Formats: sequence, C-alpha cells, structure tokens
Amino acid sequence: MNFIILTLFPDMISSMFGNGVLKRAVDNGGIAVTPVNIRDFAEGKHRITDDRPYGGGCGMVMKPEPITAAIRSAKKEFPEAYTILLTPQGRIFNQKVARDLLQHKTLILICGRYEGVDERIREEWVNDEVSIGDYILTGGEPAALVIVDAVSRLIPGVLGGESSAEEDSFSDGLLEYPHYTRPRSFEGAEVPNILLSGDHEKIRQWRRKSSLMRTLLKRPELLESSSLSAEDIELLEELDLRIKKVLQKYPGNDM
Ligand code: ADE
Repeated sequence: MNFIILTLFPDMISSMFGNGVLKRAVDNGGIAVTPVNIRDFAEGKHRITDDRPYGGGCGMVMKPEPITAAIRSAKKEFPEAYTILLTPQGRIFNQKVARDLLQHKTLILICGRYEGVDERIREEWVNDEVSIGDYILTGGEPAALVIVDAVSRLIPGVLGGESSAEEDSFSDGLLEYPHYTRPRSFEGAEVPNILLSGDHEKIRQWRRKSSLMRTLLKRPELLESSSLSAEDIELLEELDLRIKKVLQKYPGNDM
C-alpha cells in the first residue's frame, strides 16, 4: 500500500519509519511512504505556501496552487489514489475507519497547517476528511502518522509472526485481556494460575471473560456495537449480577 503525505515538514514524517515494525514494512515492500514537501511545488523566489484570509481575520491559510500541483503530480503516478484531508472537521478515526481505508491501494494524505487549507482544495480534490479526535493540533502531520500506522499494521504480513491484528483491542469491538510474561512472580505480584495450567480451553474462557469485564468497566459503550456470542452474553449477565451484588452491600448507591 502506498501512502503519499503532503506536508510542509517532511522530516516529521520520515522519522517515524526508521524503526521497528514500520521500518521493516517499508524495507520488505509491504508499504511505501513518500513524504512530499508542498513547498517544492510553490512558485517564486520565496516559495510561499500560505497567505492572509480573504475577508480578514487572524491566521494564515494554505494557498491552493502548491497543494494542487503536489496532488496533480501524485495522481499522475497513481490516478486511482484516494485523497484524505486531515482536519478536526473530519469523521473521527477509529479501527473501523482504518479497516475501511485498507481497500485503497494508494492514499494521499494532506496535512494542513495554520488556519487550514483554501476551501477550493476540499471542493476539487478531497475524497474524505479525517480527524483523529476532538482537539486541535498545530498541523495534520501527527494525524497522518496515526493513520499510516494503524492502517499499515492491518496489511497482511506487516505484523509478521510476532502478533496478530485479529487479537487486538477493538478487532471484535472489545478491549484486550491482560497480558503477562516472565517472571512468574514480580515484586510480590503473581501471574494468574490459570495461565500456567496448560488448559487451552480454560485459558480461552478466562481471556474472553477478562475482555468482557474490562470492556464493561472501562468502555461499556463499546459493548453496544461489538459482536457478542451467546456465551459472551451469559458471561456478561453473570458479571452484571456479581457487580450488582457487591453494590447492594453499600447503602446509598442507586443501583
Ligand atoms: N489537524 C489539526 N487538528 C487535527 C485533528 N484533530 N485531526 C486531524 N487533523 C488535524
């Protein structure tokens, strides 16, 4: 999969692909990441990329010409590319959006700075607008990196044998169960016995129950859109009863 990232700060992008899983993915051809400096497409001696807003007001707006030239150049090579503007106005990025973006062979990610990009870029070129959360960043670069990371690790082969995207938190709408490794006893805290039992079915049930309990306690709203089996529902009912029993012991709670 190709990620073409239009930015005024290409170094911010490159630094992310020098280590770990993403470096390996680049090295073995699983992904290609091309930071494109928007300034390289700006005209004139000073290669200006921003200007004051029409109508007045504070802040600067990214000019349409350099971004258009950068998109045209990318599209010449990848005409089918899907173009995304990173903006707090976009749809909120999550695991489902990451899976959705996997269907495109090439993504062009436009990183805005300042007050934003000239509206005509949005109208003419943008297929999708994505936000990584309800807060304002100084630019779209961290958002582009979040998207490239989350989408890349879903590409078959990118994670290799060391872990599987299918077991992640959110892959089935639940949070992940707790993980332990050696030592068995660490500063007085023990690994749960069941994980040492060798009983794979019991371990599976314990992990599922832990996932359900964590989700119920930390992110209950996720349960509404997760895919639960009959066994899951039984476990949740059992947990719910237990929680209610504990709460009933304390006078003054309204459950
Ligand atoms: N640019 C500035 N803030 C952003 C956000 N929250 N998500 C994506 N792009 C942004």
